Amino acid sequence: MKINLKINNQDKIIDIRPDEMLLEVLRKNGCLSVKHGCDTGSCGACTVLLDGKPILSCSYFAAKADGHSVTTVEGVQNKVEKISKYLVDEGSVQCGFCVPGLVLTTMGMEKELNNPTEDEINHYLSGNLCRCTGYVSHTRAIKKYLEDKK
Ligand code: FES
Ligand code: FES
Repeated sequence: MKINLKINNQDKIIDIRPDEMLLEVLRKNGCLSVKHGCDTGSCGACTVLLDGKPILSCSYFAAKADGHSVTTVEGVQNKVEKISKYLVDEGSVQCGFCVPGLVLTTMGMEKELNNPTEDEINHYLSGNLCRCTGYVSHTRAIKKYLEDKK
């Protein structure tokens, strides 16, 4: 079957299998930043923005995304560099596997929450697991990033 997807602002008509997940379709179309983590909706490594909201692409049928707009870190390089600088400065990047998902979730949070408290930040990011670092540095980095934006 064919679907229309806007991927990082580019309109595409893509042939998919009806049972194919958005994660696979994005990776086949060059978005290799979208990671295969758990494939069970538990780790957040496959997070992308669908019409600006974070979703888990491993658990989202590509067919359901027909007619929608998808953003991956390939499409928001400036923003990625900005947020990543805070993550690096606070020592929250080791292997980097979780970073694309974490950055996109942070972008979703920025849109959704106004002046979030530390608890609200942690709650919003709770679906993004990191196997390398403690989460304290993530919270510190994102908090600083949001504060400096004000
Ligand atoms: S790969 Fe999608 S939540 Fe882990
Ligand atoms: S830095 Fe390795 S999973 Fe987060």
